[in-house]
Amino acid sequence: MVGPSGGGKSTLLRLINGLEVRDAGDLNVLGTDVPLPVDGGEIHAPLWRPLRQRIGIVFQAFHLYPHKTALENVALAPVHVNAIDPEAARERASALLRRVGLSDKEGSRPRQLSGGQQQRVAIARAMAMDPDILLFDEPTSALDPEMTAEVLSVIRDLAEEHARTLVVVTHEYAFAREAADRVAFLEDARILEVGPAERVLTDPEHPRTRAFFDRVL
Ligand SMILES: Nc1ncnc2c1ncn2[C@@H]1O[C@H](COP(=O)(O)OP(=O)(O)OP(=O)(O)O)[C@@H](O)[C@H]1O
Ligand SMILES: [Mg+2]
Repeated sequence: MVGPSGGGKSTLLRLINGLEVRDAGDLNVLGTDVPLPVDGGEIHAPLWRPLRQRIGIVFQAFHLYPHKTALENVALAPVHVNAIDPEAARERASALLRRVGLSDKEGSRPRQLSGGQQQRVAIARAMAMDPDILLFDEPTSALDPEMTAEVLSVIRDLAEEHARTLVVVTHEYAFAREAADRVAFLEDARILEVGPAERVLTDPEHPRTRAFFDRVL
């Protein structure tokens, strides 16, 4: 998902994850129709609890537990939410940290890690629940170019695996063009255009999409 600030990208991610309720429109997540809340009401907890377990999210600002090690950050939710045996959860966390290139950082706490390393821990943590959908909200916006490259490389590997749906909000258009199947352009709380990544990014149909890319590229 791409588009100008305030266009609704984060809000749409929050809707997909049941962190926000909507006023209108249809929402289907993983085959489940989510009804409109009655009287602008609360998030439908019994409906979302099982869905959320199948959806992971990675934020711009990492949001790791500061007092826990990288390994503990990754192993925590499987043990507490899914009641996985702690030893098995640690083994799996260790494998996930290896996968994001952080085998030597298992015992490090977030403040001992670079931003790029923290974000890779956050990705391993999201993967620990083995989600069907993985959401990323500007995962590299807080990182310098070198760290951005290492995090994008991890996301690209996950995308190439085709094991789950990734929804990535990003301003890294070269990355989107090469790694995404489809790109959606959002402005003023609407998807103005959605289609094959290459086409939307290089030859957009909507004049607003065109104007946006003329401005930013
Ligand atoms: N629950 C809500 N009801 C109405 N408007 C909202 C609600 N939540 C957010 N908004 C508004 O929706 C707009 C879109 O915000 P959002 O954070 O989704 O944009 P964004 O595309 O992620 O922008 P950025 O690129 O700056 O992160 C903002 O103007 C925000 O104030
Ligand atoms: Mg946002």
